[in-house]
Amino acid sequence: MSSEKTLILVKPDGVRRGLVGEVISRIEDKGYHITALRMLQADRELLQQHYAEHEGKVFYEPLIEFMESGPIVALVAEGNRVIEGFRALAGTTDPTSAAPGTIRGDLARDQGTKVVQNIVHGSDSPESAAREIAIFFKGN
Ligand code: RTP
Ligand code: MG
Repeated sequence: MSSEKTLILVKPDGVRRGLVGEVISRIEDKGYHITALRMLQADRELLQQHYAEHEGKVFYEPLIEFMESGPIVALVAEGNRVIEGFRALAGTTDPTSAAPGTIRGDLARDQGTKVVQNIVHGSDSPESAAREIAIFFKGN
C-alpha cells in the first residue's frame, strides 16, 4: 500500500486563536495519521528556508514577519493522497473566498493585514513535502 506524507503548519494566527485542536481534529476526522508533532517559535533562518520559493514576491517580507510573530505547530500527516487531501481540507489561499466547510473558509477571514492570514500551511507536492519535513523535523 503506497502512503504519502505532508508537512502541515498551524500558523501563528491559528495558535493565537486556540485552533490547534480544531485543525488536528479535522486532519484525524478525515482519517489521516499524525506521525510527528512539535510546537516551536520559528526563527527567520528557518522561515527563509521554508518559504524560499516566495523570495522576491511582494508578500514575502510580511509573510516572514507574520510567521515569526508567535509560536507555530508543525506536524507530519500520513495517508494515501494526503497532500491533495489536506489542501482540500484547508481550502483556497484567500480565506474570504475559501469554501465553507474548509479550515480557511470556516475559521479565517481577511483581517486587512499586509499578508493574508489563513491558519494553516500544507505542502503542495511530494517534493515540497520531503523538503519541508526535513526543515521542521531534522533527523526524522
Ligand atoms: P501555504 O503554502 O501556506 O499552504 O498556502 P498556499 O499554498 O495556499 O499559498 P502560497 O501561494 O504558497 O503562499 C504562501 C502563503 O503566503 C501568504 N500569501 N499572501 N497575496 C497575498 O497576500 C498572499 N499570497 C500568499 C499566505 O499566507 C499563503 O498561505
Ligand atoms: Mg504554498
